[in-house]
Amino acid sequence: MSVEEKPQPATAQTAAPNGTAQTAAPSGTAQTAAPNGTAQPAAPNGTAQPAVIAVGGGKGGIGKTLLTANLGIYFAKNKRRVVLVDADLGGSNLHTCLGIDFPEVSLSDFVQRRAPTIEDVIVETGIEGLRLISGAQDFMGSVNIKYTQKLRVLKQIFKIDTEVVLLDLGSGTSFNVLDFFLASNLGVVVMAPEPTSLENSYLFVKSAFYRLLRHREKDAPFRKIIEESMGSRSEKGIRTPYDLIREVSKLDPEKGDTYRACMQAFRPLLVINQVRDQDDAELGQAVRTACRKYFGIDLGYLGHIEYDDAVWQSVRSRTLLVQEQPDSSFAENIWNIGRGITRRIEERQEGGRWNFK
Ligand SMILES: Nc1ncnc2c1ncn2[C@@H]1O[C@H](COP(=O)(O)OP(=O)(O)O)[C@@H](O)[C@H]1O
Ligand SMILES: [Mg+2]
Repeated sequence: MSVEEKPQPATAQTAAPNGTAQTAAPSGTAQTAAPNGTAQPAAPNGTAQPAVIAVGGGKGGIGKTLLTANLGIYFAKNKRRVVLVDADLGGSNLHTCLGIDFPEVSLSDFVQRRAPTIEDVIVETGIEGLRLISGAQDFMGSVNIKYTQKLRVLKQIFKIDTEVVLLDLGSGTSFNVLDFFLASNLGVVVMAPEPTSLENSYLFVKSAFYRLLRHREKDAPFRKIIEESMGSRSEKGIRTPYDLIREVSKLDPEKGDTYRACMQAFRPLLVINQVRDQDDAELGQAVRTACRKYFGIDLGYLGHIEYDDAVWQSVRSRTLLVQEQPDSSFAENIWNIGRGITRRIEERQEGGRWNFK
């Protein structure tokens, strides 16, 4: 394995048949997943839209930021133009994983309208092709940015002049985190091989699916059922997406079918990080099976990343491990995941769509 700039046959943005760099947004998919369908506008007259990939997962400290930063390096080394966005509104630290100081401008300048467009808050990272929008430090704690602000950010993200956008999401399952996840073209769920992380991952996937249905559902009584399912106690005894669909089908079979189709198309991509042994490495498939069996949700599996002390040491010393040790298992793992994402981006270019078919 090497991190040299290997020409990749699978590119993030191969030319579309009409010669434009990118096709329109996935119609009726991630678009409708966005709160009011405006977050991901179709590209006006065929202009380029980036592939937007969100990196989430229920728990903190499991490696979301680390993976985002390193995937950014992967795409940049493979000649893609990349913008990383620190969307962890409660504790932005993406710049740290890239070994740079907190930039002079950040997402807050855009949110607070000190910068007119999102392009104005993009900074260079020192790596060719890789740029960054740093997190919003001055509204730290105000994790619940206003709904309209969120939509404005999402809308502008899809207008950035770049090929790939990677969103580093905050922890937890707040609506903000879920909405950034759902509005993206591909959603990655990072999990560590520990019971709390496992639990959080299931919760994250389940919550994201309920939120997706909630965005799409216009009928008040059904919205209520979904909202009840999202809470800890449902009067109807709904515990899983399966239960929800069964309940909805009883009331309205056609609607039940729509929900089922939505479930089949909902395809977050799993990454297991901090793998220490073979059992850990095999967890990915076990989680997939459990998710399918108990939720009816079919996760994609991108691969695992080994635990390596050199990882946190490199974060501390502000060096980039994939560059310093391109032949390490860590770098190999990242490259493997990068290739998996690239392949899925390409599949969409061939007429398919992202995780929300
Ligand atoms: N594969 C790994 N090997 C060793 N340490 C890791 C690994 N992944 C993450 N870490 C450590 O965990 C810390 C937290 O990771 P981070 O990406 O900030 O998590 P999150 O964004 O999910 O909160 C990192 O600074 C790093 O030191
Ligand atoms: Mg983080």
